[in-house]
Amino acid sequence: MKIAFAEPATPKSGTIVVGVLEDRKLSPTAAALDEQSGGALKRAIESSRFNGRKDEVLGVLAPAQLALGRVMLVGLGKAAALDEAAMQRLGGQIVAQLNSVGEIVAAVVLDKLDGMKLKPADAAANLAYGARLRAYRFDKYRTKEKPEQKPSLRTLTVMTRDMVAAKRGFQPLEKIAEAVFFTRDLVSEPANVLYPETLAEAARTLRKQGVDVEVLDERQMRKLGMGALLGVGQGSARPPRLVVMQWKGASKAKSAQPLAFIGKGVTFDTGGISIKPADGMWDMKWDMGGSAVVIGLMKALAGRKAKVNVVGVIGLVENMPSGTAQRPGDIVTSMSGQTIEVLNTDAEGRLVLADALWYCQDRFKPKLMVDLATLTGAIIIALGSENAGLFSNDDELATRLIEAGKAVGEACWRMPLGESYDKMMDSDAADVKNISGGREAGSVTAAQFLQRFVNGVPWAHLDIAGTTWSKKDAPTVPKGATAFGVRLLDHFIAEHYER
Ligand code: BES
Ligand code: MN
Ligand code: ZN
Repeated sequence: MKIAFAEPATPKSGTIVVGVLEDRKLSPTAAALDEQSGGALKRAIESSRFNGRKDEVLGVLAPAQLALGRVMLVGLGKAAALDEAAMQRLGGQIVAQLNSVGEIVAAVVLDKLDGMKLKPADAAANLAYGARLRAYRFDKYRTKEKPEQKPSLRTLTVMTRDMVAAKRGFQPLEKIAEAVFFTRDLVSEPANVLYPETLAEAARTLRKQGVDVEVLDERQMRKLGMGALLGVGQGSARPPRLVVMQWKGASKAKSAQPLAFIGKGVTFDTGGISIKPADGMWDMKWDMGGSAVVIGLMKALAGRKAKVNVVGVIGLVENMPSGTAQRPGDIVTSMSGQTIEVLNTDAEGRLVLADALWYCQDRFKPKLMVDLATLTGAIIIALGSENAGLFSNDDELATRLIEAGKAVGEACWRMPLGESYDKMMDSDAADVKNISGGREAGSVTAAQFLQRFVNGVPWAHLDIAGTTWSKKDAPTVPKGATAFGVRLLDHFIAEHYER
């Protein structure tokens, strides 16, 4: 789908999309079209339940007086409540609606509305952004799709008087959308195609955008003492990798302490010797979601040339059962020096992150660390897919992440940490064990385990097991891989750490 910007005009074909405010108040363009068509739009509204509330849509075949095919009325709700997120949702919903009716070309006319705080150019740019985000598809493996199964919409033109400013405002947003798509693509790839080496290759492509990318192999990780990460990978025919990405965009001090983002990259999680049940195991191809978000975040920052220093560290392994796999009861030594009793080989994400977190703080002395991981099934039980679980040892960091999540529609809910939970991870045989032994507070105890490897650095952990993959369409996120976290963290950085 192509997105264009233009001055307002009545198109000669296809669909014109115009807004209606709550209580059936027509926007200026809607009112003009209604007049041109002898009141046909108002009559259509009156014979329907359409009120103009947000998320409402009413399609009307274009009256004879107009040359085009269809008029689509979209609810705007209250003008004062139209913010960036609302415009993005609107753009996404318009795309979905146009595809569902089989439209090929359409133009949205955005008027300046009384009481609207958002600048018209920002409104247009964000509508276009939402449209772009919703139009994503992962269809590279569908070789037999009939034309009628493909999305119909080819061009969406966003019409606004401030066309030049709208185009300019759309530029960084388009870069973020590209990064979101990169993450969604990686998360969608099956594990026979995407494994540690190929995922590292994908990260390496960021070099052409100015990101430093280093790929550590098994030998280098062994030398560093990463026994926790290596233990997880040892059952697989696919060798593990650790990828370090650096974006140095800070304008003044190129050496300024970086922000650090760490991702779990288990390219497939069978559970290992503590094997998972067959039903639903296919979902574990997206157990590398955290690492894909870190890659996408680096791409977004490079794409919009963010004025900040950021490092991304991702631990990439495949968790397989085999003759070389680690066994329940094995004791491994992590890079931190702490020994870990591996009682359940399916609690592998925390083992990967233990070494990735330790390595990151040890090498980079970051201002803060945020890790992302599809870490526990328990977080899905606690929060469903409406919120990611947020754990942090720093209140300000936690608040900033929650606020950023609200702004972009990626919600996080703070969960507790505490000494009594921490104690549950003490082992009889080693310094720490990788499961508590009970099912209680499974997401909290996992976070407590991670905290033993952050060495006091301001840190937050996002458990994204419930938000990485979606079973239903949302306005700006079609079902499937969501890339939850890319937009949140990009916004978090833009709001607080760039200058
Ligand atoms: N990758 C899983 C968590 C997961 C489950 C993500 C479902 C997405 C959907 C993780 O490695 C895991 O297996 N966790 C175990 C931990 C348990 C053994 C303590 C779990 O949640 O069951
Ligand atoms: Mn697991
Ligand atoms: Zn896992």
